[in-house]
Amino acid sequence: MLATMGALGLAPSAEAATRGAPYRAPRPGDFHLTGRAAAKVVVLGGGIAGLTTAYELGKAGYDCTVLEARDRPGGRNFTVRGGDTTTDLYGNRQTARFSDGQYMNAGPARIAQWMVTLDYCRELGVPIEVFTNVNADTYLYNESAGMTEPMRYRSAKADVLGYVSELLAKATDQGALDKDLTAADQEKLVEFLKDYGALGNTLDYSGGSRRGYSAWPGAAGTPGVVAGDVPTASEIFATGVGRYFAFEFEFDQAMLMFQPVGGMDRIPHALAAAVGTRRVRTGCAVTKVTDTAHGVTVTYTQGGRTRTVDADFCVAAMPPNILAKVPHNLGAGVQSALEAITPSSAGKIGLEYASRWWETDHRIYGGITETDLDVTHIWHPSYGFHGRRGLLIGYYNTGSKADSYAALSPKAREARAVAAGVKIYGEKYRTELATSFSHHWRQFPYQEAAWHSTPGGPDAARYQPLNEPTGHVYFAGDWLSYMDAWQHGAFTSARKAVTALHRRVLA
Ligand code: ALA
Repeated sequence: MLATMGALGLAPSAEAATRGAPYRAPRPGDFHLTGRAAAKVVVLGGGIAGLTTAYELGKAGYDCTVLEARDRPGGRNFTVRGGDTTTDLYGNRQTARFSDGQYMNAGPARIAQWMVTLDYCRELGVPIEVFTNVNADTYLYNESAGMTEPMRYRSAKADVLGYVSELLAKATDQGALDKDLTAADQEKLVEFLKDYGALGNTLDYSGGSRRGYSAWPGAAGTPGVVAGDVPTASEIFATGVGRYFAFEFEFDQAMLMFQPVGGMDRIPHALAAAVGTRRVRTGCAVTKVTDTAHGVTVTYTQGGRTRTVDADFCVAAMPPNILAKVPHNLGAGVQSALEAITPSSAGKIGLEYASRWWETDHRIYGGITETDLDVTHIWHPSYGFHGRRGLLIGYYNTGSKADSYAALSPKAREARAVAAGVKIYGEKYRTELATSFSHHWRQFPYQEAAWHSTPGGPDAARYQPLNEPTGHVYFAGDWLSYMDAWQHGAFTSARKAVTALHRRVLA
């Protein structure tokens, strides 16, 4: 009976607990019957979690102030355009020289359809467009496996899936699965594999149009030339290209994916505008957090002056590794929890080109080229098609690869990234280059991380002091979610803090 009630939503079930209650934003009307009033809240950090906290609490009339260390809202949601200047922890100062309309999303750059991020885009009126995450016409290139030239994604997929299907179909035919499947099941399996792998009646894979054409079909008399040189099964497995297909099946990466039109930072700017730009104080670096008998006092510096703000509550939505360096009186449990969360590296370089040669010469419109070179991923733009200029992400790499690029001067990063790209795309990768801008999160002030690793997951006992308020201080961020490194994690974590804080104020 309990299970039935649970299914009807009338009794708490394990599944409902895992799913979480649907979010309900605080409303001004919530205070009518309680005799309580909206409180004053100071929010530390003007990234997605901090801005969302102020935005959601603001719906019920809370008096929120957001303290953001940098000169712009958004945190890791950072879109670089011409004129933007950064200085990294090594002292490299760069000013982007991108031309009008060209931009690079240095942080988040893609959104899955199920993510709450899209609900905020809808609610805030931020227009979106498709972000092409997977494209059959991009390249795969594994130099360390002995590949001497890149392979089109479509050919690699045809060959890998073709041979896997052939081998499984033949093994089935030879009785290898007799213990696992009935004859009828085996027949269905082979029927599927023939279709999935484009096998002939003899169950052999021999290439075909799925691989693409070396001369595309056209008018009558021009049937086209199917791309030949079909590798053997042994050859294609040796390239290791099959490893790149897995991400297109993932719950967070499968197409379709989306991006805001004009740059990812349209989201934080829309949030900041909705909160009220007066309430989002930029250039304010938090230096101390003190929980008091009746509220919180936050000390910060602004333009060289030390200031304080008093509030009833605080929501700390700064990166945990930065927060761990801020003096506070929240206890050893909070401090050790913050220190247990470790920062990760990632970097990107934006390469602006004088022409969109990847569209004209390679017929690639968006999508990602995957490599085992130190640039790792090369992204083609999902905006500005057929325009005069265009901007590639010349590397999106992580860990030690990102750190090794960060250690170079911006010019040297560019040279190394271009040398890698030339191996795949040829000389235009160098000769058409107009300008570049590189960004490394681990070496970026007030961030010092692209995302975070939370060993044991955000619900592990050691993080309990961050999942519950300590005095009047709450915590929020993607790093306190199961969707670290996604804005969805920041949005949902902020909603959780908002819900808990509002419930307490109403109680
Ligand atoms: N969520 C990040 C990405 O999409 C890690 O690459």
